[in-house]
Amino acid sequence: MEGENICYKYDDGGSFALQDVALRIKEGEFVAILGGNGSGKSTMVKHLNALLRLQYGELRVAQINVRNEEEIWRLRRLCGMVFQNPDHQFVSAVVEEDIAFGLENYEVPRDEIPARVRSALAMVEMDGGYEKRALHTLSGGQKQRIALAGVLALEPEIIIFDEATAMLDPGGRQEVVTIMHKLHRAGKTIIAITHYVEEAVAADQIILLHRGRILACGRPRAILTDRDLMRAAELIPPLPVRLYYDLQQAGVHLNRCPLTEEELVEAVCQLRSKI
Ligand SMILES: Nc1ncnc2c1ncn2[C@@H]1O[C@H](COP(=O)(O)OP(=O)(O)OP(=O)(O)O)[C@@H](O)[C@H]1O
Ligand SMILES: [Mg+2]
Repeated sequence: MEGENICYKYDDGGSFALQDVALRIKEGEFVAILGGNGSGKSTMVKHLNALLRLQYGELRVAQINVRNEEEIWRLRRLCGMVFQNPDHQFVSAVVEEDIAFGLENYEVPRDEIPARVRSALAMVEMDGGYEKRALHTLSGGQKQRIALAGVLALEPEIIIFDEATAMLDPGGRQEVVTIMHKLHRAGKTIIAITHYVEEAVAADQIILLHRGRILACGRPRAILTDRDLMRAAELIPPLPVRLYYDLQQAGVHLNRCPLTEEELVEAVCQLRSKI
């Protein structure tokens, strides 16, 4: 997907929510979008499936020009979106009915629907007897997986997660992150907005937004270990990066800045072997 000069102003908003944003995301890429509150992350991704219509600039998603009115339904099916609060995404009270409703909406032939519901539930590991459960009886993590199954049933190529892990406990968050990576390995393009910088470590690309502008984009190591850049984006680097700089200040120099806990342990062990 490719975008140039994207600017966006809400009707009642004073300043631009997006300013001169350019995007380049390859098919099959895992992209993490980071930025403080109000930096424009949600506004940006809502353009990708035309939830917000482009005001200025150009944007093509899966070869579709998002300005093309006739392609909007195809675009929305190709580019699914999972939000922070699963309760806002449900339209029925029962798991399988909710997923089937989305398929009916997109005019999937009736005889294909039960199999599509089953396979979507299997992808999120909710196929073992949850089909007839009332949604209000599920935990937050389970609900988020059902919301994701509703998106997956439409067989999208691109899946956007807008803080989809924000309401979950560490276990539930890990489950959703694991599914994101499974989908990525299966060839889907994943775009994940998150306030947990650790979730961005394994991305192919990080896009850093600040006050409606792209501050930087690049590999996680380049972005997350750059203390000045992170500070400029009003973000806190992952713990191993912070420790690296804290140790440096205390006169302990690791041979490189670690990004993960494993790398931190490795760097500390190397240090010890030199003593
Ligand atoms: N519906 C709206 N009407 C007016 N202004 C809006 C609307 N939605 C967002 N904004 C404004 O646009 C800017 C970008 O908001 P956006 O929701 O894209 O930020 P975000 O990076 O997703 O933030 P968060 O991390 O809090 O979700 C903010 O200044 C916000 O106040
Ligand atoms: Mg947001």
